[in-house]
Amino acid sequence: MCGIIACVGSDDAVDTVLTGLKNLEYRGYDSAGLAIQNGTDLIVRKRAGKISDLTGGFARELPQGIAGIGHTRWSTHGPPTDANAHPHTSASGDVAVVHNGIISNYESLRSELAEMGYLFTSDTDTEVIPHLVERYLDAGFDTDGAFRKTIERLEGSYAIALMIEGEEAVRAARQGSPLVVGLHDDAYYLASDVPAFLEFTDEVIYLEDGDMVTVESGSLSITDVAGNPITREIDTVDWDPEETGKGGYEHYMLKEIENQPESLSNTIRGRIDPEEPAIHLEGFPRGCFSDVSEVHFVACGTSYHAALYGARLLEEANVRVRVSRASEFTGRIPDPAGTLVVPVTQSGETADTLGALRQAGVAGARTLAVTNVVGSTVAREADEVLYIRAGPEIGVAATKTFSSQVVTLTLLAERLKQDVDGGDGRENLGTLLRDLSVLPDQIEEVIRTSRAEALSSNYSDRDAYFFIGHGLQHPVALEGALKFKEITYEHAEGFASGELKHGPLALITPGTPVFALFDGKHDDKTHTNAKEAQARGAEIIAITASEGTAAFADEVLVIPDTHPDLSGLLANVQLQFVSYYTARLLGRPIDKPRNLAKSVTVE
Ligand code: M6R
Repeated sequence: MCGIIACVGSDDAVDTVLTGLKNLEYRGYDSAGLAIQNGTDLIVRKRAGKISDLTGGFARELPQGIAGIGHTRWSTHGPPTDANAHPHTSASGDVAVVHNGIISNYESLRSELAEMGYLFTSDTDTEVIPHLVERYLDAGFDTDGAFRKTIERLEGSYAIALMIEGEEAVRAARQGSPLVVGLHDDAYYLASDVPAFLEFTDEVIYLEDGDMVTVESGSLSITDVAGNPITREIDTVDWDPEETGKGGYEHYMLKEIENQPESLSNTIRGRIDPEEPAIHLEGFPRGCFSDVSEVHFVACGTSYHAALYGARLLEEANVRVRVSRASEFTGRIPDPAGTLVVPVTQSGETADTLGALRQAGVAGARTLAVTNVVGSTVAREADEVLYIRAGPEIGVAATKTFSSQVVTLTLLAERLKQDVDGGDGRENLGTLLRDLSVLPDQIEEVIRTSRAEALSSNYSDRDAYFFIGHGLQHPVALEGALKFKEITYEHAEGFASGELKHGPLALITPGTPVFALFDGKHDDKTHTNAKEAQARGAEIIAITASEGTAAFADEVLVIPDTHPDLSGLLANVQLQFVSYYTARLLGRPIDKPRNLAKSVTVE
């Protein structure tokens, strides 16, 4: 959802900005650009297309300098053209700006500036920013004053980085869109997300809404919009820069699928004791949820499917639970004092989820964020945080973070069950935790033995693909279909098994692949409904630990036997492979599917 990067004091700003842009390309990839201060001039290069189009197009004429800003775009206002690419500049060319977010009052600002004679050359909301800065510079304000006056006029969400001709400094401001500072000796970095500069430094400052920053070589100052100095803590990030590279894989998605044994081991490390049996969730001891009578999950996309999984676990244990798509959350919470609102979000920056979290806070409910990104906005704004510890995920298609979310929610659900229904929580827990402790090895086994690549080549020419499951397999079926449509661009739908006969069965024609998920507990409906589809010409691909269950199926993807509450995670790895290999056969740009971005920071 647009990525911004800036640096000051690095030896070669072009190289640093381009590295940052490549690391941030998962946030948007329809156009890119940079501005470099080369000692005398502010030089801007930008164009529609990927970062490689930018570097290829200007390979021999990229400027040298020690300060720069860059941007990779996911369009909101205006199509992906050279003119709409960032940085945007003032009419004189003396002010260059990159921006992530949406300026909601840009139309009135644009009319005002146009009437004053400022000429606009793009369709973007962003372009009002450099013109406003120039307007205040023209009115006699110094750079800081002009930037501050500009920020006071903006409504909406923004992370902005700005450079002025002749100054080896970057100014930035944050309101509602993420912005992080990186520090290393005399050099400073500013970016939408830590992976942008992780190979240069692991020392970071997470900025807050309302913060304004100026960085020059060897100096950093943070103030509020009125200019009062602010002190922010320096954190050390424990992500390894290697984790953000492709590590020899053709695609991030494949790397991240195959990283699941390791990422899941991190998720459960120190949190489970199968022998006791006990769960140790840092910050959430036994009894901490004793005042909770209802749980309300809010999430989007893949995270919504993980939330459905967590909710089903609670429902089966008789805990009152609701799940809302964050974009549909009404903010109505009948019993705020007894309700725990749980936003589930990998990035911690999804605008819809953040909006729901804020509404829950206004309603007076206790909020607990389940997220992957330390220091993200959701992590900072929720009352409490539980991290899924999956490590950085770069591929736009969420894979390893779904597994880590589901496992984290499984542990949270066990703790909630103990506290809400007052039981000792031991029934079933030992078996669950024992099976959980070997889940990373079982995923490794699926990775080693999966037949998904061969199977995909038999099915890559169909008109539609269906995924069905009952109980805990229903959210996995929805997730399988989302992944499939997202990266193959083929029509795919996920259904609760029993729903097929209430309408979707009309879509089944001879040869339609139906992926049917079996977990040994919720199988009867899936069995019956898969056979009904098969009788109408569908080809059934069963995903199961029991070949007997699947004797009727046309194809089988086998998974190891485990606790029924965990079986969906193994099935999901098979489905991730099916999506990946089908998309590869179809020649799709797997890590950057069209029209999408990793982190959706607009509503
Ligand atoms: O960062 P979040 O988990 O809040 O993102 C929510 C969705 O945008 C995200 O899960 C999306 O559906 C996935 N990229 C799909 O693979």
